[in-house]
Amino acid sequence: MKFELQKTDSQTKARAGKITTDHGEILTPIFMPVGTAGTVKGVHTKELLEEVEAQIILGNTYHLYLRPGLDILEKAGGLHKFNGWDKPILTDSGGYQVFSLKEIRKITEEGVYFNSHIDGSKHLFTPEYVMDIQRVIGADIIMAFDECPPYPCDHEYARKSMHLTHRWLKRCVKRINETEPKYGHSQALFPIVQGSVFKDLRIQSAEFIASQDQPGNAIGGLSVGEPAEDMYEMLEIVNGILPESKPRYLMGVGTPENILEGIALGTDMFDCVMPTRNARNGMLFTTQGIINIRNKKWEDDFSPIDQELGGYVSTFYSKAYLKHLNKCQEMLAAQIASVHNLRFYLWLVGEARNHILAGDFAEWKPLAIKKLMQRL
Ligand code: GUN
Repeated sequence: MKFELQKTDSQTKARAGKITTDHGEILTPIFMPVGTAGTVKGVHTKELLEEVEAQIILGNTYHLYLRPGLDILEKAGGLHKFNGWDKPILTDSGGYQVFSLKEIRKITEEGVYFNSHIDGSKHLFTPEYVMDIQRVIGADIIMAFDECPPYPCDHEYARKSMHLTHRWLKRCVKRINETEPKYGHSQALFPIVQGSVFKDLRIQSAEFIASQDQPGNAIGGLSVGEPAEDMYEMLEIVNGILPESKPRYLMGVGTPENILEGIALGTDMFDCVMPTRNARNGMLFTTQGIINIRNKKWEDDFSPIDQELGGYVSTFYSKAYLKHLNKCQEMLAAQIASVHNLRFYLWLVGEARNHILAGDFAEWKPLAIKKLMQRL
């Protein structure tokens, strides 16, 4: 994997860059649609390519390990072959998912014992095993096994948890260095900065993560319930320490506003379930502002969902028709809204990139936030 920094904004920390993987290029800043179980919910691979114009999608180690399981993934020749997505894939390490299984897990130095949320079967994820699983899935970018502490948590818990994440990272790096990719394309390991909302811990963690000298770096443990100001403060500290020459990935973030602020603070990659999850609940992000399609006012609005956004789905179907589909709980409502919202997120980061390259990102950003975050 290679990262080329193409332009750094003069007024903010925003950057435009290019990541090159064996499955193609990613222009940054970028948003990565979440495809937890090897599918972006409700969206065809063809639509991801042609409508959403996604450049990279996410998969999740925990979910893919449980279903379809390693046997099938290996027989398929990896996730790219299995789901037909021939562009870059990133897999999260599963740590985050395992930790959300509160009652059915136990954290030890060795790793995490947990019970499957599907059939209750017992499993152990160690840093080594999580690297091996990600070798079998075959993503282009793979994440270190980390603990994402809950919010709020006290300083002592956050400190111990951060050190555990650092010790696990060393084991991840060792395992990756001792093993080979399975399908002929290379895999880049991204370590994850933790430290909750404590400045001293974030500094320590960012320094340790940077010292591991991996191809890219991630910032975890944010957008877990803390105020947005705290998230931006942590991001500013961490991005000030992580090397400029490598991509920075803010995990699980966020709203359009969070993403633009994250970009302004020097972040290059984002992922979030928000565009697809909110789509299923009838919330649409548009170039004119936010729409709740369940609102009565759309009942007889026969204008396209979003003419300015372009693309087939957003210009062909009307708001009134989508409202009707949503009310009838038709599957198509979720599909249309998911494709539309993802196209919007890809458009948003594309616009940010264009403004960084044009040199007017700092002037554009507050106007964009005001317009895009207003409720219509
Ligand atoms: N997704 C969102 N936040 C996190 C995090 O802290 N760790 C991991 N592994 N995934 C995440």
